[in-house]
Amino acid sequence: MGIFAVLALPLLLFGISGIIYIYQSVRWLLSKSAVQNKVVVITDAISGLGKECSRVFHNGGARLVLCGRTWEKLEALYDALINVADPSVTYAPKLILLDITDINCIRDVAKEIVNCYGCVDILINNASMKVKGAVQSISLELDKKIMDANYFGPITLTKAILPNMIARRTGQIVLINSIQGKIGIPFRAAYAASKHAAVGFFDCLRAEMEEFDISVSTVNPTFILHRNVTNLAVSLAEYLFTTIPSDVSDCLKVAYGVHPVEVAEEVLRTVSSKKQEVLMANPIPRAAVYIRTFFPELFFAIVASGIREKQKTEEEN
Ligand SMILES: NC(=O)c1ccc[n+]([C@@H]2O[C@H](COP(=O)([O-])OP(=O)(O)OC[C@H]3O[C@@H](n4cnc5c(N)ncnc54)[C@H](OP(=O)(O)O)[C@@H]3O)[C@@H](O)[C@H]2O)c1
Repeated sequence: MGIFAVLALPLLLFGISGIIYIYQSVRWLLSKSAVQNKVVVITDAISGLGKECSRVFHNGGARLVLCGRTWEKLEALYDALINVADPSVTYAPKLILLDITDINCIRDVAKEIVNCYGCVDILINNASMKVKGAVQSISLELDKKIMDANYFGPITLTKAILPNMIARRTGQIVLINSIQGKIGIPFRAAYAASKHAAVGFFDCLRAEMEEFDISVSTVNPTFILHRNVTNLAVSLAEYLFTTIPSDVSDCLKVAYGVHPVEVAEEVLRTVSSKKQEVLMANPIPRAAVYIRTFFPELFFAIVASGIREKQKTEEEN
């Protein structure tokens, strides 16, 4: 009786972990099978997240059309994919040159994309440009370029591919957005504005496409941990907790960021479940989104005090 009492808790925990593991494995296999043979277009497939999405969808047996603006990088990605995957259960990807800011060419590129397989099942709008700086230090020209890359580019491509999906009454459109499409963070005005615009467009599109059985999903990660840059979570933490030393800041990057593999797997799950919106954020950025929604004045006050505190520290240094 005594031994049973001692073993009961570990056995229970072991059993629960096993069930969770089996559940996640089954979910993962179902997600993979949901994209098998599907024609999946990924814009900026050569970016950090784009590469991971390419790998995950390629391994899932999708027929990939990989878009990017540098041919050599597309070819390198192609080689990397076909060298590691089992060719009997995967398709060799098609490659298409696409500069998402070149709005006038996008319709022609969309025709090329559709011609690859005659249809598009899933369009993943991943391409994007980032910029950081005070509003008055960013030129209007750059503001417009960011809008082209993050808003006009993705919507032009989507509009060009939609007729094919509508005619077949099936399709999925995924927008890789950002938590900055939900909250505005200082020194990222152009990026945040373009991401807000994109989410507004795709939210409206979702409702309009329902009658055609076309689903629209937005995936909003916080910081993707593949480059050494200051991230939103760190900025938020800085504003919330005043200034922090750089070593703490680096720890926060790790603590609040998500790995591109995690995001890519979430994109696959989102496609499989046709989930409409995903926010990939740890507690502080997630709380910030809720505070912005329900207590906007508090949010603005916290952000403003963060800036004042930062300026004070900079002056003292
Ligand atoms: N990184 C993050 O922390 C983060 C957080 C939230 C959301 N996201 C979103 O995740 C997606 C992927 O971002 P990422 O961080 O993986 O990108 P990334 O690795 O920083 O790569 C940036 C990419 O942008 C491409 N690019 C720049 N200008 C372009 C243009 N005019 N046309 C086509 N491509 C262009 C670059 O291509 P070249 O190499 O050819 O120059 C490069 O592949 C984006 O939608 C981004 O907004 C990222």
